[in-house]
Amino acid sequence: MRAIVIYGSTTGLTEKLSQSVATSLLIPGWYVCHKNVKDTHAAELNGYDLIVMGCSTWGHGELQEDFIPFEGELRGVSLKGKKASVFGAGSKSYPHFCAAVDILEQSLKDCGAQIVSTPLKIDEGYEAPFQKIAVWAKDISETMSRSSLRTDDPGKGQESLAPDLGLGV
Ligand SMILES: Cc1cc2nc3c(=O)[nH]c(=O)nc-3n(C[C@H](O)[C@H](O)[C@H](O)COP(=O)(O)O)c2cc1C
Repeated sequence: MRAIVIYGSTTGLTEKLSQSVATSLLIPGWYVCHKNVKDTHAAELNGYDLIVMGCSTWGHGELQEDFIPFEGELRGVSLKGKKASVFGAGSKSYPHFCAAVDILEQSLKDCGAQIVSTPLKIDEGYEAPFQKIAVWAKDISETMSRSSLRTDDPGKGQESLAPDLGLGV
């Protein structure tokens, strides 16, 4: 399984959250790439089974500035057959709380990606954001593992997972 975690962050909170996501996804059998959106092009997404995007919200419910050109590039890309999920930091003191998360989720759907979890919106005032996001990411990895079992070997079910464990990258 290959996953990419892409983040856009101005003051660093979403970047730290994205590190926690990448760490939580790094389980045996998975390759995880963790990248700033500034250094990422939409064409790269082809190489991954799971795409996770983390973006904070700025202005009046807008994408974090580094995500704006990337989101434009996404419009020409097909992500059919890919799984995807979105999270981001924001503040409930603003009327459009974490609106960037909704914008990116819609873009991913428009590209044909399948959204595999409820988007996670982290208020910068939460007490334990890193625990919350680690649980969220673990849920995604479990969903992905179950779906790869179904895709790879529908006849064998759970038993077929065992030989794959321990071959971790
Ligand atoms: C000028 C300004 C505008 C903001 N606009 C929003 C907004 O529309 N919605 C929201 O949820 N948060 C908004 N925020 C809060 C930021 O998203 C929040 O500080 C977040 O933690 C920044 O994450 P980052 O460090 O990953 O960039 C705004 C903050 C500032 C300073």
